[in-house]
Amino acid sequence: MLKSRTDAAWFETSRRDLGALLSDHLHCERKAAENALSLVRRYSGSATLVGRLTRLAHEETSHLVQVAALLDERGLPLRPDTPNHYARGLLALVRGNEPGRRMDALLCAALIEARSHERLSLLAEGFAAGGEAELGEIYAALANAEDRHAELYVELAREGAREDVDARLAELAAREAEILAAAPPGSRVHSS
Ligand SMILES: [Fe+2]
Ligand SMILES: [Fe+2]
Repeated sequence: MLKSRTDAAWFETSRRDLGALLSDHLHCERKAAENALSLVRRYSGSATLVGRLTRLAHEETSHLVQVAALLDERGLPLRPDTPNHYARGLLALVRGNEPGRRMDALLCAALIEARSHERLSLLAEGFAAGGEAELGEIYAALANAEDRHAELYVELAREGAREDVDARLAELAAREAEILAAAPPGSRVHSS
């Protein structure tokens, strides 16, 4: 689904400030839950979407609890959320009118989940290799969940679609790769 691959060197930059990375990750999980629930509000007429996204939001909330525990165990305070180049860039790709708006919102959510899967997998590998077994295991489990979520969002986008879902997904994926490459570097999940 993704049109670019993250360089393995990204891990070292992202882990440099663990408090910043975990805080940013917690806010990513919070926004994933909030976004799913806002789609439930907007598209409450689709029983499939409501059923699947309420469960997804529940799962994202459980991820939030897990990341909060990681911060807590390490005595690291949660830092406030800061402007996110990546999320803002993707949001700007969503068309303003239906049915394009629904399709784009679901496909952008799919791409964010797919990228989170890639990044959390790199964290899992990096932490495991660096002897941080607990972080390695938790990130491996979280990465798996995000992979399932990416598929789920694409399936929802196919529901009742009147345009070529794969073509639109490829278009948005190309833009996602550009937006990520232009994001500032740093200890964040979606940094360049
Ligand atoms: Fe999550
Ligand atoms: Fe997710």
